[in-house]
Amino acid sequence: MTTERKLGIAMLGIGVGGTEMLHAFEQMETLELIAGADMNPLTRERFTARYEAKAYESVETLCEDQEVEAIWISTPNRFHAEHAIYAMEHGKHVIVEKPMALNLQQAQAMIDTAKRTGQILIAGHTRSFIPPFRKMYNIIQSGDLGAVRSINFWAYTDWLLRPRVAEELDMAQGGGLVMRQGPHQIDTVRLLGGGMIKNVRGFVGDWMPERPIPGYYSAMFEFENGAVSNIVHDAHGYFMGGLLVPWGANEQRYDEAERMKVRNGMIAGTRDEESDKQDIRIGGAREVEIFQREGVNRDIGGDPWIPAEPGFIVVSCERGNITRTAYGIMVWDNNGHHEIELKPPAGWAMNRRAELQELYDAVVNGHPVYHTGEWGMATLEATLAITESSKTGKLIELKHQVPPVPDYSDARIFGIPPSDAGDILDTPTYG
Ligand SMILES: NC(=O)c1ccc[n+]([C@@H]2O[C@H](COP(=O)([O-])OP(=O)(O)OC[C@H]3O[C@@H](n4cnc5c(N)ncnc54)[C@H](O)[C@@H]3O)[C@@H](O)[C@H]2O)c1
Repeated sequence: MTTERKLGIAMLGIGVGGTEMLHAFEQMETLELIAGADMNPLTRERFTARYEAKAYESVETLCEDQEVEAIWISTPNRFHAEHAIYAMEHGKHVIVEKPMALNLQQAQAMIDTAKRTGQILIAGHTRSFIPPFRKMYNIIQSGDLGAVRSINFWAYTDWLLRPRVAEELDMAQGGGLVMRQGPHQIDTVRLLGGGMIKNVRGFVGDWMPERPIPGYYSAMFEFENGAVSNIVHDAHGYFMGGLLVPWGANEQRYDEAERMKVRNGMIAGTRDEESDKQDIRIGGAREVEIFQREGVNRDIGGDPWIPAEPGFIVVSCERGNITRTAYGIMVWDNNGHHEIELKPPAGWAMNRRAELQELYDAVVNGHPVYHTGEWGMATLEATLAITESSKTGKLIELKHQVPPVPDYSDARIFGIPPSDAGDILDTPTYG
């Protein structure tokens, strides 16, 4: 590994999503955490207690810091565009959480700002970054299984039971399952299906009165290359997707007893959600238990994968299928089935490193960005189309789709240099 300079990074919005991401920041030798910014004083206090970094209250004061080169934006959805544009205009590179923005006009303004300022813009944090999906993409690209025809993706989770602040319950501010979780599945099926979705038929379900935001969606996508994809997410926390695999479990964020307690507390109106949420933000009473509990946080390398979000996937190609396994992927073809192991080093936040590496490589080494603003906008377009289709009962034609950047498959799939990734990276064929 060449000795590379450190990139000065900061986090804006150190909430639940930000707290989860800080573990990946800690692991990246090439990043230096310069600062965090959050309007919540308790959060700033807990952040500076844990890290030798500066704490600011706002995007404005953060952007005055000349040591900060890039900003991870994990403020609430309604601020993504405003904060990303402000940061780029003040000389910072940005990675922005999903959903990239609330609407296509905002996404376009972000893209335009990146072009005008020359800053890097990455539409971050979707599961299409992670090794199993990148490897599936490699195999599809190799043509060994023929063309991709269908991608089915089903998630059964307890997402709807997790604590929410008021703005997360407001659809106008990007609340609800479709905007918050849709991008994971959509970004992934767009990668595997070639990026170019032609049309969308969507159904959105909002049937839990105590939680008046969508907790269910399903959608059918037709791609320009003839592939189709069906995605489903039911987030009510009854049946758990982990049970779809023999090594899985009946728990994700909560085990069954906790889900009953949370759900019944919501029905009875006795749950204190702001306090529940602060408990899992940085330094909160349940932060470690929730995000690092043995066998539960499947984002940390070492634990077997279970179908939580984004779910259980089956890719159908002309001459075979691809699925996930506990530590890799399974290829099913005319010679039987064989596993490709993709185990990251123990303890690695495998789902989160690759995007930080993508940022680093783009800023420091001039590498291409794979999750560009345009790519993110195409995923946002499909996300918005699900709700639009559900409301109107119509098939929605898409106009802003883009294919994956051609050398995506060569990207550093574990967020580690190719020299350390063994033969996983460069084997488009398998067997
Ligand atoms: N909840 C999750 O598990 C999760 C996981 C990954 C990503 N995300 C994404 O992270 C984003 C935030 O969601 P969350 O669940 O972490 O919510 P959250 O409320 O826990 O976090 C938002 C944080 O931003 C701060 N904030 C709000 N407005 C601000 C402003 N104007 N300036 C500075 N700080 C401000 C809040 O004080 C809070 O700490 C969303 O885009 C979401 O999609 C959430």
